[in-house]
Amino acid sequence: MESLYPEIIRQKYCDIFGSAPELIVRSPGRINLIGDHTDYNEGFVLPAAIDKAIYFAIGVRSDDTIRLFSQNLNDTHISSLTLPEKSITQTWANYILGVVNEILKADHPLKGFNLVFGGDLPTGGGLSSSAALENGIGFCLKELFRLSISRLELVQISKMAENEFVGMKCGIMDMFVSMMGRFNSVIRLDCRSLEANYFPFGSNEYVWVLCDTMVKHALVDSEYNTRRSECEQGVVLLKQFDPSIKSLRDVSLQMLEKHKDAFPGVVYQRCKFVLEENQRVEQACLALEKNDFLAFGELMYQSHQGLSELYEVSCEELNFLVDQAKGSSGVCGSRMMGGGFGGCTLNLIQKSKVAVFVDKMKKAYFDHYKKTIPCYVVQLDQGTSIVQQIR
Ligand code: GLA
Repeated sequence: MESLYPEIIRQKYCDIFGSAPELIVRSPGRINLIGDHTDYNEGFVLPAAIDKAIYFAIGVRSDDTIRLFSQNLNDTHISSLTLPEKSITQTWANYILGVVNEILKADHPLKGFNLVFGGDLPTGGGLSSSAALENGIGFCLKELFRLSISRLELVQISKMAENEFVGMKCGIMDMFVSMMGRFNSVIRLDCRSLEANYFPFGSNEYVWVLCDTMVKHALVDSEYNTRRSECEQGVVLLKQFDPSIKSLRDVSLQMLEKHKDAFPGVVYQRCKFVLEENQRVEQACLALEKNDFLAFGELMYQSHQGLSELYEVSCEELNFLVDQAKGSSGVCGSRMMGGGFGGCTLNLIQKSKVAVFVDKMKKAYFDHYKKTIPCYVVQLDQGTSIVQQIR
């Protein structure tokens, strides 16, 4: 079914600015089938863009002002184009201003603009709404001002904006897949070379279902950055034995076991998880090629166990949902997804069993936590794209 959001956003733009926007763009969220916390270790991931997205209506202004309106938050932010400053109170604006800043730093010519954005992609649910926002504004500016920036450069710009301006040291997975996704396909991305292989996933029998814990525990960003530095410590340790090692990508499980005694326990655990998770991505791709969804699901459970016990980025609520899913009729696999400490679990389920599954999960979570959680069936969809060019 066609989304109503482009029209809602277009209409809002007309109401606020008194004229029609010049361009409407859609930028999607993502799921990650398997391969978490591997991207910043130059490993492998297997994400897909989804049919939940942010929509943008944009038009040029005659001055150097940037006027932003978030439809979902019903909030306005005004900034100067020449000196976009980080906002302490309206943090949502920083994802946009960070991209503007990166584009200006690369000497691309910009003018002031008006923007209205909003959509059906939940924020804070671990579906990469920040990457969707960054990619969306980058893509709008490229089209509006006819800038010669490639899609891959836009991905890098979004990542820089998030790493530098927002201050979250994330890897490249979220921006890459939100920008490069294709309908009914998953991407196996080599995060070292950025080589992307697309695998079809348009099963008639199985679907992806998200169950949102509705929690986002504090310290997510600081724990994320700590995991990164623990992996970096592992690399420094292993370099003593082989100076050619540049990242965990260059390390085998055998090598790690051989030098286990040189490692503080936690650093060993983190590295072991990353190396095993990379292997699981490889195995998951083989399972996908054979349409072996049971084998795929088993790898998802293993991934969750590693994220929970070795990498320690899960939380009670995520573990609860995965435990509930395990053994439910028609469920092949279930795991936490993304950075961790809250957000959604991803579940691979037989289509005919979805309704029963969703009822069961909602009831179990309510009985335990007294909260009604949203569950969504998601389709794999294309990456950031133009919905309508009006000019
Ligand atoms: C977050 C980050 C990604 C990636 C995942 C974990 O979503 O933004 O770069 O590291 O966590 O796989």
